[in-house]
Amino acid sequence: MFDQFLQDGSNKRTDIYGGSFENRARFLLDATRAVISVWGSDRVAVRLGPSGAFGDMSDSDPEGLFTYVAAELGKLNLAYLHLIEPRVRGNLDDETRSPNPVASQLIRKFYSGTIIAAGGFKGASAEAIITAGDADLVAFGRDFIANPDLPERLLRRQPLNPYDRETFFGGTDVGYIDYPFYEERAAA
Ligand SMILES: Cc1cc2nc3c(=O)[nH]c(=O)nc-3n(C[C@H](O)[C@H](O)[C@H](O)COP(=O)(O)O)c2cc1C
Repeated sequence: MFDQFLQDGSNKRTDIYGGSFENRARFLLDATRAVISVWGSDRVAVRLGPSGAFGDMSDSDPEGLFTYVAAELGKLNLAYLHLIEPRVRGNLDDETRSPNPVASQLIRKFYSGTIIAAGGFKGASAEAIITAGDADLVAFGRDFIANPDLPERLLRRQPLNPYDRETFFGGTDVGYIDYPFYEERAAA
């Protein structure tokens, strides 16, 4: 929802919520401040997908926009800023992933608080981005769905169960609670 205001591919408003970065970011920042006023900044976080193209989302200057937004969010002492790396587009598996985690690398220069990066990470790339200092934490989506013991597997450098996209959005427990733990799989 906030993205529709942030990005000029969808935001065509001519009031104080449209036009400049400042105006397009106003709704997100006002809403974030309002939530902070209730819960406290240490319990509020924001997730941004600066390169997301879901629903035909686009912006004419994503770097300018999202670095502005990150800098403004940086003044709010959020619990964290969560960023979806450009390697992941929409909800599709993207085989043309860039090897470089550009989003966090760039945003880090404008945001000194805690950054969580997500999008196409494996154990080695997660370690690399944290070592580089471009993110403080890494979140996993699809591999976590398919691996109930993902942290343990990453720690022990064990192979991962492949995920089955067909069951991601299904209405049964299949694909949600039946992926095996490493020991179960090894014993099978
Ligand atoms: C089944 C499924 C549902 C998702 N739903 C959402 C969502 O509602 N909001 C969101 O911001 N991201 C959503 N995502 C994206 C993930 O949070 C994550 O950014 C993405 O899967 C990339 O991380 P990964 O490469 O580790 O899977 C979803 C992903 C999957 C696979």
